[in-house]
Amino acid sequence: MIMAQIAASVLNADLSRWEEWLPELEKARVDRVQFDIMDNKFVPNTGVPKNFFGKLRSRTKLFLEAHLMVQKPENYVKQFADMDCKLLIFQVEAAAKPLKTIHLIEDAGMQAGIAVDRKTPVEKIFPHLDEVSLALVMGVDAGFGGQKFNHSALEKISDLRKKIDGEGLQCEIEVDGGINLETARKCVKAGADVLVAGTFIFKHPKGVAAAVRELRGL
Ligand code: DX5
Repeated sequence: MIMAQIAASVLNADLSRWEEWLPELEKARVDRVQFDIMDNKFVPNTGVPKNFFGKLRSRTKLFLEAHLMVQKPENYVKQFADMDCKLLIFQVEAAAKPLKTIHLIEDAGMQAGIAVDRKTPVEKIFPHLDEVSLALVMGVDAGFGGQKFNHSALEKISDLRKKIDGEGLQCEIEVDGGINLETARKCVKAGADVLVAGTFIFKHPKGVAAAVRELRGL
């Protein structure tokens, strides 16, 4: 049994078939569902439609989180709070004033998460670890699912783990991008608490529930 939570990223799911795979995610007791929100500016992709988040919110009790890969993430806070998003994660590279964005998210009643893209040094989010509920390490370049995991993320995870444990902080470490059975093991060993998987779950030959169970059973 892997000691990590599993988050299913719907970026590469067939959104028109949600009535098939949402019950599968619930049956497999996935811990979270992650929605990649993109503006085709911060990343060259349009991601998951915002209103799809609202649709699924009304259909499940699962923990839903949104990962903003957008410029000016502060402009998205109210709409996600209004859709009862539990955790709103923004890219540190996109926030002019990260602390202000964190407070905006928390004042709107959501947990705040801060993400660091593949090429950004993990130290960039160190000043905010005592303010956020979660730190997200990208295993790939933000923008697309189905990419190969970049092993430089492992050092970022262990550096975060040392910093968080060393200072007794309550910040979860989440990893997103290129997660499969092999990289999941390595990320947990390095200190990750939550694994985000899209392609592994939604393109798994045995189906969504089997994929989640396989990851959890590592
Ligand atoms: C990149 C996305 C992906 C997605 C999961 O911007 O954030 O990381 O969620 O992708 P895969 O398919 O690699 O699990």
